[in-house]
This record gives sequence, structure tokens and C-alpha cells, in this order.
Amino acid sequence: MSTPIIIAKKTTDTTQDIVLHSKFANRHGLIAGATGTGKTVTLKVLAESFSRLGIPVFLADAKGDVSSLAKAGSSSPKFEERLNLLKVDSVAFAASPVIFWDLFGQQGHPIRTTISEIGPLLLARMLNLNDTQEGVLSAVFRIADDQGLLLIDFKDLKSMLSYVSAHTSELKAEYGNLSPASIGAIQRNLLALGDQGGEQFFGEPSLNILDFIQTDSNGHGYINILAADKLMNTPKLYATFLLWMLSELFEQLPEVGDMDKPKLVFFFDEAHLLFDNASPALQQKIEQVVRLIRSKGIGIYFITQNPLDLPESVLGQLGNRIQHALRAFTPKDQKAVKTAADTFRANPDFKVDQAITELAVGEALISCLDEQGTPQIVERGWVMPPYSSFNPITVEERQVIIAQSIVAGIYDQAVDRDSAYEMLQNKVAEREQQKQQAELEKQQLKEQEAAEKQQLKEQERLAREQQRAEEKAAQQRAKMTQDIVGTFAKSAARSLGGSSGQKIVRGLLGSLFGK
Ligand SMILES: Nc1ncnc2c1ncn2[C@@H]1O[C@H](COP(=O)(O)OP(=O)(O)OP(=O)(O)O)[C@@H](O)[C@H]1O
Ligand SMILES: [Mg+2]
Repeated sequence: MSTPIIIAKKTTDTTQDIVLHSKFANRHGLIAGATGTGKTVTLKVLAESFSRLGIPVFLADAKGDVSSLAKAGSSSPKFEERLNLLKVDSVAFAASPVIFWDLFGQQGHPIRTTISEIGPLLLARMLNLNDTQEGVLSAVFRIADDQGLLLIDFKDLKSMLSYVSAHTSELKAEYGNLSPASIGAIQRNLLALGDQGGEQFFGEPSLNILDFIQTDSNGHGYINILAADKLMNTPKLYATFLLWMLSELFEQLPEVGDMDKPKLVFFFDEAHLLFDNASPALQQKIEQVVRLIRSKGIGIYFITQNPLDLPESVLGQLGNRIQHALRAFTPKDQKAVKTAADTFRANPDFKVDQAITELAVGEALISCLDEQGTPQIVERGWVMPPYSSFNPITVEERQVIIAQSIVAGIYDQAVDRDSAYEMLQNKVAEREQQKQQAELEKQQLKEQEAAEKQQLKEQERLAREQQRAEEKAAQQRAKMTQDIVGTFAKSAARSLGGSSGQKIVRGLLGSLFGK
């Protein structure tokens, strides 16, 4: 069953509620208005109301003031005055269940993702790459993929870039021209991102986005608060990360039919940052995600000073609108007021463009989808008071909440498993080892050859010595025979004459030595 969420009381008659229907909360929304007009308080009122209905929320805390959602409110004379104005008797002050997150891991549980999960398109945006460089980065991703190298953290990407840079000519046939200038630019920009602290965003355990979608024991949705004060200094990084979260939600959640309430509401503060200098490809992708994600039960609420900061195609998709005061000092302001007014369904009771400039703090022009899903005519109303405090929580209070959180211990410690960096390192080490082995074998062969040569020489020497000894012995023997046979043999032989005489001599000698 759809539940009406009271977000404001009509200015002209505070007994009348202005409501947002829970079943259309996934039709997205807009909170706009100049500085100090009440956008953050409105965001808190919506977030608390969703949480109480069991709808988990994600939001980025740009100034640290949203952390007050974790602290119950309290009364004050000013607060009582406002209650009287709204004809509200009392407020059931309460804290909402929150989970603090922080990309830098200081003000909340660290949020990490892997290089491959971010993908070349978003990474190219984080690194401020031009089209050519983006093309090279995409090729680097494909090469890693084809070679079975995991891209998890910064050093994986760094070593992958060095690898590609050293093998451009071999890779050219398959992956096209990988210009050293482009690789160099990517490497430099990666270093710059590292200087901004970007190194710690990439690694494991990477965020399981479904951890955003949880309820507490009271059935209240958790409000996930991303510390974004430091992150806002690098607007592209901030916008890209939030976009990545949206695309993760989109990819991981199944299609759902019409639901009584969304699965998660995602508030995108400083939403103009998302579209500043976005390439047409990226802008198209954002529009697509916004259009399709609602069928997965996700509502996106953009918060920005001026609704004209958002492209038409996105603005046209925002069903629930809360417009706080705009200034109309310059002609440009006046044009913005006029355009903002034109986006509403007119109310015959007042002039919308005039009202926008007159609204008080905490007052707004509101148009939500009615029970049939069509935009209601615009109403002027006082936004309800929040249940939580107006004061941010202290550092100590935050630490206690972090320590007791339902995701405590899951993300706090980074792990570093074998991926491209380690594998490429191994490859180098392996090659080195192979080289050493080959060298060793060559040396051994050389030594063996030398040894064999030496042996041969020795054998020849021995053979020569033996021959010499034999010759000497033969000479001696010959001499001895001469002595033994003496003159008589000679004479006998001589007397026998011819060849037969020689034979007898041999026979005589043989018998002599044979004994
Ligand atoms: N609904 C409300 N009920 C009571 N007080 C409010 C309400 N809305 C705004 N205020 C008062 O106005 C102050 C400024 O509001 P808020 O911080 O929401 O402005 P903002 O539009 O977010 O400004 P910025 O653009 O600077 O972030 C609050 O601190 C609070 O005192
Ligand atoms: Mg604010």
C-alpha cells in the first residue's frame, strides 16, 4: 500500500498537508534553491521520512551538516515558534539509523572499488582524459583482460601502463596505435589523482553496493552518509564516484514491477557537478541510468541551487519537485526564475515566478506526483521540521557510531591479492630467473668442454709416453736379443740364407721369450 509522506503544510492553510506518495518516490525528485534557503533541512526531512517507512537512503554530506541525522533534535524558542506556525503540536525527536562512509576512510567506513569495476569511461573522466587518451585507456583494459591480468588497484594500472608502453610495437597489430604520448598523459594524470589521495579509493574489499540497502531492528531504513567535504575539492572525482554507485545499483538490482515504496532513495547533492563538462557520451549515459533505474526501485533526488544546472532531458524525468527561494537580482537570475516557474503546473491562486523570489527560509513551492502519477498543481508550503538535530555530531559521537555499525570490520582493512602488478612483477622475476639459468647452463657447458679437452690432452700425453716407453723397451729388447743370440745365430741364419733363415730367427726368439 502506498503511504503519503507529509513533507510540508500549505502556507495559506497550515491544516492542509502537502504529501509525497511512497509508491511514486522512485519517480525521482529535485530540491532546488539559493544558498541558505533550506535545501539541506528539506533533504533531511525527506531522508528521515523515508527511513521511518523502511526505505534505506544514500546521500553525500558536502558540508558535514547532514551528519546531524544521527542525533535526535531538541526544542528551542525558535523551533516552538515554527511549530506554532505549522500548527504542529510536538515533534517526536529521534535519531535515524546511519552508516557513515568515507572514500578517505577517516570519517566513515572506507569505500573502495577496483579499477576494472570503475571501467575506462568513468576512469577517463576522473583522469581528465581527452578522447584519444580515453581510447588508449580502453585498449589497456582490453589488453589486461586478454592476458588474464586483474586490474584492482593503482599499482596494477601503473604497471599495466608501463607494460603496454614497453610493448607498443607488438601490441599494435591487435590493439591499434598506442601512442607513447597518450600513455604518458594517462600516467601523469594518474599521478595527479594519486596526489589527491585517489590511490586509496582503488582496492579491496570493494564496496558491495547492496550494503546500502539495509534496515535496522525497528524496520527503519539505514541512512548511508558519505562524507564529501574533502571530496568536494575534487568535484569530478566526487561526481564520478556517485555515478559509479548509481551504475552499480543499476547493474546489481533486478527489475521490479510497481512497488509500494522504493528499495533505496539516492540523494545527489551539488548535482550540477555531474554535468559540468560531461562529454555527450557520458551525459547520454547519465540520462539513461536515470530513466531506467526507477524500474529497479531506486529514486534519485537531485539537489542543486538552480534547476537550470540540470539538462532538460534529466529535469523532465523528475516527478517530485521542491523549489526553495531563488534570487532575481540580475537579468540572468530573472530568466532562471522564469524557467524554473515554467517547469511547474500553474496554480491559479498565485504567480509562481513571483512566489519563487518571495519564499522564506524553510518555505518552498512543491509539486509531487498525485495518486495517479500525474504532477499536481504547484503548492506553496512550509517544510516540516526535522526529527533530528540542527547541530552536526561531534567527532567522538561519529567514532562511536562507526565502531558499532553493522558493516564494522568488513571494509576497514584493505587486502592486496595477486593482480596485474604482482603478476607483471612475477613475469619480470621469471624472465630474470630464466636468464640466470641459461647463463649457468652456458657456463657449465663451457667448463665441461674445457675439462674434456684437458682429459683428451692428458690421454694423448699418456699414449705418447706409453709409446715412447714401448719404443724404448723394444729397443732394449732388440739390443738384448742381439746380445743373447750372439754371433752364432747370425752365422746360422746367414748359413741358412734367404727368407727361411729369417723365420728360424723369429722362432728361436719366440721360444726364448716365451719361457
Ligand atoms: N524546514 C525548516 N525548519 C526549520 N528551520 C529551517 C528549515 N529549513 C531551513 N531552516 C533554517 O535555515 C537554515 C539554513 O538551511 P539549510 O542549511 O537547509 O540551507 P541550504 O539551502 O542547504 O543552504 P546551502 O546552499 O548553503 O547548503 C537552517 O540551519 C535552519 O536554521
Ligand atoms: Mg545545504
